[in-house]
Amino acid sequence: MNIDFSRIEPYIPFMLEGIWVTLLFTLLSLIFGLIWGTCLTLMKISTIKPLRWFADFYTSIFRGTPLLLQLFIIYFSTPQLLQYDISPLMAGVLAFGLNSSAYISEIMRAGINAIDKGQREAAMSLGVNYSTMMLFVILPQAFKNILPALVNEMITLLKESSLVSVIGVQELLRRANIVTSQIYVTFEPLIFTGIIYYVIVMILAILARLLERRMRVSEA
Ligand code: ARG
Repeated sequence: MNIDFSRIEPYIPFMLEGIWVTLLFTLLSLIFGLIWGTCLTLMKISTIKPLRWFADFYTSIFRGTPLLLQLFIIYFSTPQLLQYDISPLMAGVLAFGLNSSAYISEIMRAGINAIDKGQREAAMSLGVNYSTMMLFVILPQAFKNILPALVNEMITLLKESSLVSVIGVQELLRRANIVTSQIYVTFEPLIFTGIIYYVIVMILAILARLLERRMRVSEA
């Protein structure tokens, strides 16, 4: 065995910088996914059938094909189809946001459906109109219930973000590969990167747990 972590020492700052790229990428994708995912959810619960069909079809496509394939289509085919040279970061955010919105819309739809019918009936019997009821009665309760699932989605996005290393975004995994190509060892950079991912995910999971507990307190 030939393991020597001191070999990667000079590259540690370079590798740690990848944390910001990974986090920025995850956050942008999540924001995009949340916005478009909310729109899809509204379509899914709407009474207009074609909107429901569209949202369901959309979800089945994005959940039914690999994320890496979606990323490749957006990154490699945009120049061919639109004569536009898309940057790797933008292609990544687009692919991940579009993909995540499919999952997010399902999380939201389930969350809304889980709210007791009585809430809706009570609001309606008081003469509250549909949008006010949604905004102030149903959605706040749904949001509380789906929060853990949304944090889960964020963790998934964070880990899947390593896929964009293949199109050249210098996030955590890409940086590990760059270090490998400099010092001709694979193990140390990869393990170090794995530890970084793990620590970030643990921090997110702990924050989520705290948030959840806090929300439960407000319920009591
Ligand atoms: N590896 C999965 C795929 O290729 C990732 C799906 C993304 N999941 C998510 N919850 N956004 O399809």
